[in-house]
Amino acid sequence: MTLSGKRILLVISGGIAAYKSLDLIRRLRERGASVRCILTAGAQEFITPLAAASISGQRAHTNLFDREDEADIGHIRLARDADLIVVAPATANLMAKMAGGHADDLASTVLLATTLPILIAPAMNVRMWQHAATQRNLATLKADGVRVVGPNDGAMAEAEFGPGRMSEPLEIVAAVESLLAPKGPLAGRHVLVTAGPTHEPIDPVRYIANRSSGKQGYAIARAAAEAGANVTLVAGPTALPDPVGVSIVHVESAREMLAAVEKAMPADIGIFTAAVADWRVASAATEKMKKMRDVPAALPLVENPDILATIAHLKAGRPAIVVGFAAETEKVIDHAREKLARKGSDLIVANDVSAESGVMGGDSNTVHLISTSGIETWPLLDKSEVARRLIERLGAMIASKQS
Ligand code: C5P
Repeated sequence: MTLSGKRILLVISGGIAAYKSLDLIRRLRERGASVRCILTAGAQEFITPLAAASISGQRAHTNLFDREDEADIGHIRLARDADLIVVAPATANLMAKMAGGHADDLASTVLLATTLPILIAPAMNVRMWQHAATQRNLATLKADGVRVVGPNDGAMAEAEFGPGRMSEPLEIVAAVESLLAPKGPLAGRHVLVTAGPTHEPIDPVRYIANRSSGKQGYAIARAAAEAGANVTLVAGPTALPDPVGVSIVHVESAREMLAAVEKAMPADIGIFTAAVADWRVASAATEKMKKMRDVPAALPLVENPDILATIAHLKAGRPAIVVGFAAETEKVIDHAREKLARKGSDLIVANDVSAESGVMGGDSNTVHLISTSGIETWPLLDKSEVARRLIERLGAMIASKQS
């Protein structure tokens, strides 16, 4: 699913190649994209809005001044709510309108009102393509940042031969994939992050928890996504909104967190930020315990699985880099050093979480990076800046490890 979650606005203008656009819609959807169509008046001479709507699974848009259309999704939202606009086929006329900044129908208005990347697949008669005016418009569009795929050489509808045939749907799909491919130092990498506290049930309504807010882990997941990674965030209960562009799995307990982490493997980098409860109640009650009747003399606890150590000690399929966190209230560096060895991680990010540090639940953090090559202390930073720097560092580490 190379285009999973991507939203494409497909503008279809009037040419015989419009019939291939129906196949293009299908190919894009097969790869996980959602496709919304705009048909120009010319396009509707070749294919119907109903055909485009049936194949795309969404209403096709045709009219700038249609009250219903504008109420449903206005032209400004059409120009904004997508990752990419594809114009296929792009006729000589629509290219001229785009180059000249015209806005006299829905398609040209959306193309003028957008700041999204645009890919055009020209299709026209060979002489129209070779005409100085079209070549001038093409140069203008390229200078404006519009990307172009094709046209190909081939037999034309009018029994002529030469450049002007629209690229095949799969060629257009390849151009879309390359335009939307993630970019950045972690492009193509899977980064797995745990975050937040865990809740260990005592009974169906009571639990043992800790003060972790999840802010640092969420910030790391966001920074990894911004660096182009494919990110899975396994999060315990937090009050934070789901980060955009990240696959999130919500869990409650340590054992659920471990199961979700194992399911999300393999990963290139594992970052274990979660404040996992060290112990759980040995046998949680299945019914709510009654205040007077069930008062426990003691709550026997048993140790939870150590998620970081489990993953870091994997014989097969271990992430290339495993990062742990050490939240300490005293002797931060000594404890972190010991943890680096015991847990088998490549890096420990240690911080002071004593009450006076304000780290737990706060927005900033002073961290020490502890690895076998030494210790580095960063100044007091916003948690999002800690995340950004950490991801930058991990990007460099993985690049040097695998070069
Ligand atoms: O041993 P301690 O809890 O201080 O270790 C902290 C590090 O280990 C963190 O990276 C935390 O996410 C991870 N951890 C874990 N599973 C546990 C306990 C800690 O992954 N059960």
